[in-house]
Amino acid sequence: MSHGLSRGLTNYGDPDFALYLRRSFARSMGYSTAALARPIVGIADSSSGFNNCHRHLPELIAAVRRGVLAAGGLPLDFPTISLGEVFLEPTSMLYRNLMSMDVEEMVRAQPMDAVVLVGGCDKTVPAQLMGAASAGVPAVQLVAGPMMTGRHRGERLGACTDCRRFWARHRAGQLTKDEIEAVEGGLATTTGTCAVMGTASTMACLAEALGMALPGTAAIPAVHADRLRAAEATGETAVALARSRLTPDRILTPAAFENALRVLLAIGGSTNAILHLAAIAGRVGVDLSLRELNRLSDDTPVLVDLKPSGQHYMEDFFAAGGLGGVPRELRDRLRLDCLTVTGETLGTRLAAENGWVDRGVIRGAGDPFQPAGGLVALFGSLAPAGAVLKRSATDAGLLESEGRAVVFDSLEDLARRIDAPTLDVTPADFLVLRNAGPKGAPGMPEAGYLPIPRKLAGAGVTDMVRISDARMSGTAYGTVVLHVAPEAAAGGPLARVRSGDRIRLSVRERRLDLLVDPAELARRAPVAPAAAEPSRGYRRLFLEHVLQADAGCDFDFLRAASRPA
Ligand code: FES
Repeated sequence: MSHGLSRGLTNYGDPDFALYLRRSFARSMGYSTAALARPIVGIADSSSGFNNCHRHLPELIAAVRRGVLAAGGLPLDFPTISLGEVFLEPTSMLYRNLMSMDVEEMVRAQPMDAVVLVGGCDKTVPAQLMGAASAGVPAVQLVAGPMMTGRHRGERLGACTDCRRFWARHRAGQLTKDEIEAVEGGLATTTGTCAVMGTASTMACLAEALGMALPGTAAIPAVHADRLRAAEATGETAVALARSRLTPDRILTPAAFENALRVLLAIGGSTNAILHLAAIAGRVGVDLSLRELNRLSDDTPVLVDLKPSGQHYMEDFFAAGGLGGVPRELRDRLRLDCLTVTGETLGTRLAAENGWVDRGVIRGAGDPFQPAGGLVALFGSLAPAGAVLKRSATDAGLLESEGRAVVFDSLEDLARRIDAPTLDVTPADFLVLRNAGPKGAPGMPEAGYLPIPRKLAGAGVTDMVRISDARMSGTAYGTVVLHVAPEAAAGGPLARVRSGDRIRLSVRERRLDLLVDPAELARRAPVAPAAAEPSRGYRRLFLEHVLQADAGCDFDFLRAASRPA
């Protein structure tokens, strides 16, 4: 089998000429013949001036290069798209598939024997894993690591659960303009990803749980020297992968996804991770079912006491023992025969690990933080293909409830009316947002965390049932039903709800039902998104090919054929 520079030759109709030319041009970069004969490790670099979370990637990549060289490989880094969560319009999710295509094509098109994927901010890790899974080249993930917390008047601040908490207080009139400005300056004070168990940290943990990142690396803070040591070790691992030819499809098995779902539930992870896992799974022909999530959820306790569900931050999680403490507690429930990038099985790894754990942060399975998993899927007449709720971050009193719908037709409608003093709304109502899904918005923005109407927030209301076809930031919290599928713009029942309808939510029964006679519903005209500008380029590709939330919002043409469980 060809390796190194002889992989995937440029097509001139003469392979020997192509290799001679490639070697000649590679030598122009100063590499010796001996260096060029080594296994080549590509390093996918997602740093960008528009991504604060990746500010330290140059230093991390230097450490990866050290590890590759020490293990006898040749490191060659290359740039890819970067997705800085808060710098993208209308939402980073619109571009996750684009980044995955960039990663896939550059990993496949360039001559590398293995690749280190360096990312961290929300959509970058899923995009890199999706791309690497499709490229079929041995790959290992290195995450950026979380930020450290800041302080405001003695109170700890961590992006971005505290961003929302302080903003809610500001909206309720409890925080002055000067004070919210002071908070703004203290929320994100170091490089790294958000400081709580949001989507970035969740995906970091899941990369490790899937076996695609080195054990013990998910939670190391971005600025900690251990992260540089992890980068060096990741470089060494990539050289071993180049030699063993252990490809992602042998790691990303149905059993590995089951393990990842277990860990997702036990860490009280982000709802977004369900979409990303479904998309990664789809790239290797694995169908991830929301009904499977429910089966596992009932039997998987929440072990980790982290924001937004609990009280601690990622740096506390690291100090408490890191992710390793979670699978050890779940050992009886995990599929231990799964391979990891180290070439060992999960079972071998867990048998060897016995690190110290702070039980104040990572509970034992016999004394969990919450007895059942943090996420549940709901089905019913309002969500025939499913919806998702993070029950670990909700007001328990609302989980079994029925309410009157107050419907917003779009994000613009929501912005226009939510704070109007004339809005007909009570705390017992269900706020409903439609046309904010994959096609409707488009890109499925994190708009599902509908603000509490100002007049209710001002009266002290902190949670209400909120339902939408949108997503929610992994750092947010509340009784928020998300990812309703099919979305309104795809003709789902959400398009026919009217203000005043009754909706019933039962988390116990896993139901979300619109209490309207089906014949009456069929008579109603669906409320579609306002006609948009004719789309072109990537947006057009997105609108024509994006799948619904239950398939992870991947493009139909990027998924692999199903493989048997
Ligand atoms: Fe990058 Fe939160 S903004 S992880």
